[in-house]
Amino acid sequence: MQKLRKVTDLVEPIYVMEGAGVLLRRSIASPSLDYLDPFLLFDHFGSQNPTDYLAGFPMHPHRGIETVTYMLDGQVEHKDSIGNSGTIGQGDVQWMTSGSGILHEEMPKEPDEGIMEGFQLWVNLPAKLKMTAPRYQEFKASKIPEVQTDDGAVVKIIAGQFHGVEGPVTEIFVDPEYLDVSIPTGSSFEQPIKQGHTAFAYVFEGEGIFGDFEFNSLNKGTSVPATYLAVFSDGDAVRVLAPQGVRFLLISGKPLKEPIARYGPFVMNTPEEIQQALEDLQNNTFVK
Ligand code: FE2
Repeated sequence: MQKLRKVTDLVEPIYVMEGAGVLLRRSIASPSLDYLDPFLLFDHFGSQNPTDYLAGFPMHPHRGIETVTYMLDGQVEHKDSIGNSGTIGQGDVQWMTSGSGILHEEMPKEPDEGIMEGFQLWVNLPAKLKMTAPRYQEFKASKIPEVQTDDGAVVKIIAGQFHGVEGPVTEIFVDPEYLDVSIPTGSSFEQPIKQGHTAFAYVFEGEGIFGDFEFNSLNKGTSVPATYLAVFSDGDAVRVLAPQGVRFLLISGKPLKEPIARYGPFVMNTPEEIQQALEDLQNNTFVK
């Protein structure tokens, strides 16, 4: 019998200032949720006020992790130390494997109209891949498949699978699933998630009921409103009911169960490896 996952923790993001002065809502790498193996950080950025983000993230290094940027609205311009540059626009995703190291800048642009909004997730790399060659997987919105269920839910598949349709981001060590799910009023949604994988949902519009509830039973599940992050217990599926409509990211991946040493944009296994990253930066040997 299938075992539905329950909500074990609800995290309210805290506001933090990052980069040269960007206001973010942070829910992983926060005081209440330091690390959700293999996920190291989760930020929701977005504002109607350009002074909250225009300072951006000038040149900075990363080593030992993957950074995943998914834009809901607006644009972020990026360029890096290995010659890549471009714009991540509405609905686009960039899955960047820093590996041994890159230096890059990420600069949000003021839109002609509307707001600038999106998410950044940091995914850990296992010890054996921390010093791998840097790699990008970048996809425009048009390359991200969308499936509509009979029940009216609309699911964008960035990584992993939904109803047999596979997302464009592949060959990531933690075997991630990254879905953007919109459920209309009164509809429901269910998705298998591999046993043993860590899973969370981040609700950013409306409110949903998540958990191991049965329809028309006394078990009412857990109500999760925007903007909260819900952490799930182990199990093999997530069930969601949307009495008033909800939109959320559903993200899962295989935990690494390795020691971590983190220092800002570097996440390694030992303090000595962090020290090495700092020395490499100082000696101009950071980018391999
Ligand atoms: Fe970065």
